[in-house]
Amino acid sequence: MKLVRALQSQGFGSRKACTARVRAGEVAVNGTLCDDPEAEVDPAGLELTLDGVSWPYRAQAYVLMHKPVGYECSHHPSHHPSVFSLLPPLLLQRGVQCVGRLDQDTSGLLLFSDDGQFIHRMISPKKGVAKVYRARCAEEVTDAMLDALRSGVQLNDTPVPVAALACDRLDATTLQLTLAEGKYHQVKRMIGATGNRVIALHREAVGHFPLPADLPPGGWRWLEATDLNQLEQPWRSATS
Ligand code: URA
Repeated sequence: MKLVRALQSQGFGSRKACTARVRAGEVAVNGTLCDDPEAEVDPAGLELTLDGVSWPYRAQAYVLMHKPVGYECSHHPSHHPSVFSLLPPLLLQRGVQCVGRLDQDTSGLLLFSDDGQFIHRMISPKKGVAKVYRARCAEEVTDAMLDALRSGVQLNDTPVPVAALACDRLDATTLQLTLAEGKYHQVKRMIGATGNRVIALHREAVGHFPLPADLPPGGWRWLEATDLNQLEQPWRSATS
């Protein structure tokens, strides 16, 4: 692959802009300065350095974010800033999209990618990738409420009741809910159908991949091969 093409594919700008940066001596390939935009580079293990920052070559972008409350999962947000404003321009240039959406007032694990097939596998109800939420409720979490969520509650846009894969009380007003789908406002609507109300919602995990404890709200990082593997593991509850 030509160096200029490799740079473009990683989101460093147009062919013209990448050519100019290489010619200006701003780009190192595997630690060695290279001023020939047409130089052949091997994508395997390729490390590009620009402005003193190293960027390992990635054929596709897979990223996770600790979404803070107060951000919308949209390129054209209506009332709050966009989660995309928390990502570097390089990822936006690559065209990463949210993998499913979290509401403006929901925090937690949010994935992004430019791999359409990966996005489909993560959000398709047929694939059943579990999403684990922690919900704080306005009223006490009762046994009847837990039973209803486990056996299925009726939502207005589903022909049959929708059940949680797992549902556990964490304290008097907080529960952990695991869902196989990601319907619009699903957690809030399911809890609403039991007569209670969500006052704070946080996504703790997707599949068996938890939000890293050391990632602060608004922070992001790349997903590595082992992370992707963990994300795609079929769902098994802790008791099965
Ligand atoms: N369910 C909701 O109600 N809101 C979210 O943000 C995610 C799941």
